[in-house]
Amino acid sequence: MMNTIICGLQWGDEGKGKIVDYLTETADVVARGQGGNNAGHTVIANGTKYVLHLIPSGILWEGKNCIIGNGVVMDPVGLCKEITTLEEAGILVDAAKLQISDRAHIVLPYHRELDAAREAALGKNKIGTTKRGIGPTYADKANRNGLRLADLMCETTARELIEIRLADANETLSRHDLPTFTTDQVWEEIAPAIERLRPHVSNTIPALHKAWKDGKTILFEGAQGSFLDVDFGTYPFVTSSNTTSGGACTGSGLPPTAIERVVGVCKAYTTRVGSGPFITENDDISEYFHARGMEFGATTGRPRRCGWLDMVLIRYACMVNGVTDLAVTILDGLDERETIQVCTAYEIDGERHDYPPANRAAWDKATPVYETLPGWQSDTTGARSWDDLPENAKAYLTRLGELAGAPVTYIGNGPEREQTIVV
Ligand code: GDP
Ligand code: IMO
Ligand code: MG
Repeated sequence: MMNTIICGLQWGDEGKGKIVDYLTETADVVARGQGGNNAGHTVIANGTKYVLHLIPSGILWEGKNCIIGNGVVMDPVGLCKEITTLEEAGILVDAAKLQISDRAHIVLPYHRELDAAREAALGKNKIGTTKRGIGPTYADKANRNGLRLADLMCETTARELIEIRLADANETLSRHDLPTFTTDQVWEEIAPAIERLRPHVSNTIPALHKAWKDGKTILFEGAQGSFLDVDFGTYPFVTSSNTTSGGACTGSGLPPTAIERVVGVCKAYTTRVGSGPFITENDDISEYFHARGMEFGATTGRPRRCGWLDMVLIRYACMVNGVTDLAVTILDGLDERETIQVCTAYEIDGERHDYPPANRAAWDKATPVYETLPGWQSDTTGARSWDDLPENAKAYLTRLGELAGAPVTYIGNGPEREQTIVV
């Protein structure tokens, strides 16, 4: 297998975790390079459901190395909880299996409070964040007053840095009438987690380079999706990292020349959780999925907004990410539909647009231009090959690949590992 980036082409929750788990069988190393525990990646393996937030989905396989790279923002307490949950489920997470970059920035309790305070202040314009402190932690990183895991290895240094940062953070929290923090409070909350994680902490960059030079196969698990990317997404309704393929390089220390393949994951329809534009949003489709217990957020439990497949987004995401292969998930979600709509362009002030606009007012005015395709109205969940799929499902996937400009290589037709078709 080739060194591969797996990234989301929509607004997250495309089923990246499932695809990463599937591809891990033939890989050696699985790395995360951005995001934090705002991510929720669901994998169903051998009948057991796992939800991963910070740990790469490759952890479910034995004998694979997982890496949390320098570009990830890491909540130490959250990560320890995740390790414990996995170990209770019989998944070994020792230091040989999971390494964390000493350069990863740390999410501290005040980052979560600042996240909530900012959302409250935005009122009806709120972003709808996961309130995991992601934005404030990346802001500190860019502001050059963040704390990295390496800084927390020595208590004296850690306390000094926390104290400096708290002086400013407490001022902001007081302004919002929120409880402030003392250095002791912050340190005591994280110290046991830091000790627990100490054996996992290293400079992961030489290890990744060695794996590359030794001809091992490396997978990068993207978190969030292309339209949550801070540069390419529906700004400001985005997350605070580069969720597109470039983020895998800056977030891991492996150069672009190490990457051979980019698998773009998209649902057979579209979902979004949180605020922001969503041109193909459709209440009937949202209700349809929610009534079936589908499309609730894996991290926050919020119902996801749902709508038809938006190829304006996918087309752009394929360009920006350099997608070589598409993985189309939850094809089975459309099994009962009589007809299926695909948005091929936006109309804005009477003009046709093939790419997403940058202007906020343009998003508000955009309406979808739809192409209607016939549904297949039969159960695809038992299909194990392309030939097993109904003709109309094949036609839908073929059209999707044409509009995207990339071939459909993987198809998800159920949440289980086995429900993955390789074309
Ligand atoms: P991620 O964040 O991109 O990893 O995606 P999530 O795990 O948040 O959301 C995807 C949801 O769809 C999860 O509940 C998966 O178990 C489920 N899922 C993934 N692929 C398929 C599929 O092909 N069919 C069905 N029915 N469910 C799927
Ligand atoms: P995975 O990896 C879906 C969304 C939030 C909000 C915006 C900013 O599971 O696909 P943040 O907490 O990051 O500051 O929130 O981004 N968001 C996600 N939506 N899937 C995710 O991750 C997300 N991570 C963040 O809902 O709209
Ligand atoms: Mg998710």
